[in-house]
Amino acid sequence: MTTAKLQFAYTRGADTIIAVRMRLLDAKESVIFFMLILAQVFEYSRTCKCDQNYFCNCSSNQLQQVPKVPANALGLDLSFNQIMSIDINDLSPYIALKTLNLHKNKLGFIHKEAFKSQRNLKVLDLSLNNLKKLFSSWFHELKSLQQLNLVGNPYSTLGPASIFQSLINLRTLRFGSPSLRKVHKNGLEGLTHLEEMTFIGSNLRSYESGSLKAARPIGLVSLSLQNLFQNDPELVSTVLQDVSHPETLLTIKDITLRTSTSIEPFKASRQGGTKSLRFENSSTSDEAFTSLLKVMDGSHLSYFGLKDVHLVGDGWWQNASYTHYEDLHTAYICNLDIQGFFRFSSMTQLGFLLMHLHKVSVINSTVFVIPRETTFLLKKLEYLDLSQNLLSDLTIEPTLFTGFGAYQNLNTLNVSQNVLKSLGLMSRLATNLKRLIYLDLSHNSFVSMPEKCSWPATLRFLNLSSTKLRKMTACLPSTLTVLDLSENDLMVFNQRFPQLTTLILTGNRFMKLPQGELLPGLHTLLIQRNALRMFNGSSLRRFQNLQDLEAGNNNFVCSCEFVSFFNQEVGHFITLRDGRCNYVCDTPFTLRGYAIESVRLSVFECYMIPAVSVLCSVIIIVLGLIVVTCHKLHVVWYLQMTKAWIQAKRKPAVGRLSEELRYDAFVSYSQHDAEWVEEILVPELESAQPSFALCLHKRDFRPGRWIVDNIIDSIEKSHRTLFVLSEHFVTSEWCRYELDFSHFRIVDEHNDSAVLVLLEPIKKETIPKRFCKLRKIMNSRTYLEWPEDEEKRGEFWSNLRAALQRDEC
Ligand SMILES: *[C@@H]1O[C@H](CO)[C@@H](O)[C@H](O)[C@H]1NC(C)=O
Ligand SMILES: *[C@@H]1O[C@H](CO)[C@@H](O)[C@H](O)[C@H]1NC(C)=O
Ligand SMILES: *[C@@H]1O[C@H](CO)[C@@H](O)[C@H](O)[C@H]1NC(C)=O
Repeated sequence: MTTAKLQFAYTRGADTIIAVRMRLLDAKESVIFFMLILAQVFEYSRTCKCDQNYFCNCSSNQLQQVPKVPANALGLDLSFNQIMSIDINDLSPYIALKTLNLHKNKLGFIHKEAFKSQRNLKVLDLSLNNLKKLFSSWFHELKSLQQLNLVGNPYSTLGPASIFQSLINLRTLRFGSPSLRKVHKNGLEGLTHLEEMTFIGSNLRSYESGSLKAARPIGLVSLSLQNLFQNDPELVSTVLQDVSHPETLLTIKDITLRTSTSIEPFKASRQGGTKSLRFENSSTSDEAFTSLLKVMDGSHLSYFGLKDVHLVGDGWWQNASYTHYEDLHTAYICNLDIQGFFRFSSMTQLGFLLMHLHKVSVINSTVFVIPRETTFLLKKLEYLDLSQNLLSDLTIEPTLFTGFGAYQNLNTLNVSQNVLKSLGLMSRLATNLKRLIYLDLSHNSFVSMPEKCSWPATLRFLNLSSTKLRKMTACLPSTLTVLDLSENDLMVFNQRFPQLTTLILTGNRFMKLPQGELLPGLHTLLIQRNALRMFNGSSLRRFQNLQDLEAGNNNFVCSCEFVSFFNQEVGHFITLRDGRCNYVCDTPFTLRGYAIESVRLSVFECYMIPAVSVLCSVIIIVLGLIVVTCHKLHVVWYLQMTKAWIQAKRKPAVGRLSEELRYDAFVSYSQHDAEWVEEILVPELESAQPSFALCLHKRDFRPGRWIVDNIIDSIEKSHRTLFVLSEHFVTSEWCRYELDFSHFRIVDEHNDSAVLVLLEPIKKETIPKRFCKLRKIMNSRTYLEWPEDEEKRGEFWSNLRAALQRDEC
């Protein structure tokens, strides 16, 4: 409920109401109140979208009142809402408003001064509302108004008082509805600048002569009188009298012309000197059409148009063949729907009309051929538009048959949107059109171009847009000044066009601009929606005359080079006609979707490759240093030792009971000293009485286990560890583990399980520092030296045996 109240306060824009309420609210409530205000601002931004041109679109929002928008709004679209009234203050803040659209609301009331402050309003649309009466006071201040639409309201009269006289700048007026019954004299009084008028009066009962007569001829008059032609031809005659003038294009809409009675009113047009007559959204028959031709016979009719017309008949118009239409210059036919159009093949009977024509358009009217009997009537033809029809390679040949002087004046041919497939054929047929300047072949399916084509020397404009072309060949005429190759699959541009000023390559697959040397006269190049990655000063400089470029929506690579060129220099070379905001980065990924003009690249990004290379090198060097340092400091070895040590620590501290000690000694030795160990030490000790059980890694290690585990295991199971020390011993890695492991035991258990045998004298200095324990042991313990002298060896063995002897307990 609060929201509803607030919406009232807000949308009404009644600041006073808010002020009064503010005073009534206590502190707690006012917090809620402000939150609601915020919610309202949100609400308004949701219902109305205002763009950077200050145009606010509030269409289709079920609004019941004029909403609040920024006061500087230039355009306000309120169409398709439920607004029922406009009060005096609803629009007063919007003094800058140029466009106000209230189409299709439920407006029944507009305050007399509602538009008082809209002095700048140019366009006002009040169509399809519920206005039962019109007031001239609404329009008093609308001095700038140029377009007014009042169509589709239930007012029933126009006049008698003049309504529009304040609208001194009105150009376009749309007026009337099926409810309109009565039009009083001088309805258009005061409208001195009217150029265009639409009048709907399908149920008009009374019309005072002169009502729609303007001060000067109106350029375009469109009448929708529907059945009135049938029901009240006299009233229609009066209307037509008022609006017919040689300078007025008269459009008759929404009628069904079947009988000759309904044609009678056109006599008034003939008298009025109508030169341009057009039917829209209508239905007619052969009979009515023949009557019309008879009624208008001898008139100066020069333009005749049919748009969205349904024709019942076979084109059986020869009853009118004696009529005279020497001035008939243009026939414009669009969306003609002929019932049984296959019977409507020959138009020879219409020769009396066709031979005068200079301009013919038959658009979207299922034309599949113009037979030869007809074409030779078209001697004066300069302009032929057969777009959106069913012309094929088979039927285009007779259609463009140039025998008997046909088409000798043709300068424009439009066969866009047909089903043509051969560009070679088109070029051959066009060669016969000696004066052809414009040729529009767009929206056909040529797919490929022949290697060579011939064209009329006069050809300047060629449109090959949307023709599925994949490759350019030398087929295209080099005389062109405008060439449209848009919406194809082209990738390479390789032909020289010395006179070309405009080239359109939009929607292809070009990855770079065409070479400027091929296009020395080019002023304008359109190449949007291609695969361009960049362009630069040197590629633009190659065009001698390029002024305008449209190249938005390409796959731009936002390199530093391109971004800085685009933001600083591109303006020195050309004008980007399609607006800079359409130039958007595609790569790198981090910039995708950003407008190039908004991109600022850092030094790091600009020198990405060198920066990354340097970074990588640094990382590699650091890693290398770490590896070298580890190697030097034997870090790996320390780690392995630590692991072994931890494992050893975690084993339950079992007492070293003699039954668990399978071996008397574990012999630790370097591979280098294997010969001495295996051939001298082992036989000696194992054959002694009592013999010693020795554990040798070569012989007694369990295969498949980690070597350190084996060592730990062996030492655990041995009474003593016998180290055979030599220079090699201290350099052999393997020995290191063994030694160090026994160190732990020595330190931990304070026993003397280590027995040292020196095979050769070792200088203490040669022992690496990290074997400090070995040094310590060698200092603290006596060791057995292997004597060079054979005689002393007996003593050595007995000492050794004594050292390895198990204590009896
Ligand atoms: C065409 O005319 C018919 C009446 O003949 C009318 O009902 C219809 O609304 C018109 N259509 C348009 C698009 O104006
Ligand atoms: C040719 O016809 C098409 C489709 O009706 C139209 O868009 C185009 O503007 C016409 N071309 C010329 C040169 O008039
Ligand atoms: C070429 O034809 C296409 C499609 O009919 C049209 O959109 C385009 O405007 C034409 N090009 C020129 C330069 O008129």
